[in-house]
Amino acid sequence: MNFRQSDEDILKVKTDLLVVGMFKGDKFSGSAKSVNDALGDVLKGLSEEEKFEGDMGKWVILSSTFRKIGAKRVLLLGLGEKSGFTPDTVRKAGILAAKKLKDACTSIAFGPEFCGARGYVSALAEGVILGSYEFSKYKTNNGAESEIENVVVLTEHMKDRKFEEEINLAKAVSESTCLARDLVNEPPDYMTPSRLADAASAIADEGDMKCEIFDLDEIKRRGMAGIVAVSSGSDEPPRFIHLTYEPPGKKPKTTLAVVGKGITFDSGGLCIKPADSMRTMKMDMAGAAAVLGIMKTLSRLRPSIRVHGLISSCENMTGPGAYKPDDVIRAYNGKTIEVINTDAEGRIVLSDALSYAAHLKVDEIIDLATLTGACMVGLGTYTAGLMGNNQKLLDRLKKAADSAGEKMWQLPMDDELRGDIKSDVADIKNVGSRWGGAITAAMFLEHFVGDTPWAHIDIAGPAYTEKESNWNPKGGTGFGVRTIVSYIMER
Ligand code: BES
Ligand code: ZN
Ligand code: ZN
Repeated sequence: MNFRQSDEDILKVKTDLLVVGMFKGDKFSGSAKSVNDALGDVLKGLSEEEKFEGDMGKWVILSSTFRKIGAKRVLLLGLGEKSGFTPDTVRKAGILAAKKLKDACTSIAFGPEFCGARGYVSALAEGVILGSYEFSKYKTNNGAESEIENVVVLTEHMKDRKFEEEINLAKAVSESTCLARDLVNEPPDYMTPSRLADAASAIADEGDMKCEIFDLDEIKRRGMAGIVAVSSGSDEPPRFIHLTYEPPGKKPKTTLAVVGKGITFDSGGLCIKPADSMRTMKMDMAGAAAVLGIMKTLSRLRPSIRVHGLISSCENMTGPGAYKPDDVIRAYNGKTIEVINTDAEGRIVLSDALSYAAHLKVDEIIDLATLTGACMVGLGTYTAGLMGNNQKLLDRLKKAADSAGEKMWQLPMDDELRGDIKSDVADIKNVGSRWGGAITAAMFLEHFVGDTPWAHIDIAGPAYTEKESNWNPKGGTGFGVRTIVSYIMER
């Protein structure tokens, strides 16, 4: 997709689609007014008929301009309240425009109202790329009618180099988000732990990063018994994946580890899930997919900190060797885990990855995991749960999430709940009571990070959507890539 800026007259620009924005209650002014005047008031008439008043996410489309202006169609988009206008507003505008018209248009132009100070053009471009996303690999007739090729932003304010920078940032982040979506959307018979490791190694090659992949023998040899246990009910061998991004030039001052849960299918194991809850469990590697998306972005944006990408990947199945409730497992850091429920497998495989990260002596650890249904019950399907042992880190992550337009909400690590995961036979057990399930899961993870500042992001809700929403396609969303990249770029 090509992006360029232009100071052409909005009425003359030749494009399949011209997108103009309107703030709530603003009536017709600026671009909307010039276009409406040139079209003899039809845009206004149509808006009145459809009771369009500029609300965020609302829109009116004029499918022909009868050659009265250069553009073939006009999309009038609501931008919501003027006071709430941020880069996220234009990101959403970009998503909507692309989603609505990607099959009908190869060129789009956006009015100057979408361009603000730093970060707006980049967010708009991100939106257009994200909104054009489709996963059609397995559709026999997968030819979309057309594809958006050229995007013009009608502005005269930006220096060319600044514009290019913002577009490069947008491409790096959103193309990696789409990669994470692809990995999640692949069916589980294809996206096995080995294939996930292949994807990781391809990303490493392309981005000139170090990549270590441990097979079952190596995982055993290293003492990662959590991964061994969870994978033992499956014929598919597990993989532990370790990518390292090294910044160019000077020795970095800071090292971060991003850790992903990579369960490529979660049947629940012997504590098997009912059929309705098992469907969609191919998405249980969305944390791992986000980690790969993040690493790919870093190799393109070249920030100045070192980042380790760590993934524990296996299937959770019910085969003859399957691990059992009552089993006791000794994790990589030596702590013992009593298995209460084999469906709480994510925290078990993460115990090895987190203690491996702590062992690397990193400055911070951030994990992304589709960890608990409880988090979805608490926060709904659009918001991730944020927990951890270091408030400064959590505050910075929340800020990054807000600016990336991804919703996160901190849950309290209430000391009174800690007793819930005390075990009679081992150091801890893998499940507490029903209450506060997302929090006790985080408390379990905390046992494996030592003193390292650590944040846990439970993405069970927002990583995957079963119905198309305004801003996300059905299936994998790539949640987490934008936030963590923005967090890293601000460090
Ligand atoms: N992968 C699931 C969590 C999940 C549920 C993710 C729904 C996305 C959508 C996880 O492994 C799991 O099964 N958790 C159990 C834990 C329980 C046994 C304590 C859950 O949430 O029910
Ligand atoms: Zn599970
Ligand atoms: Zn799971």
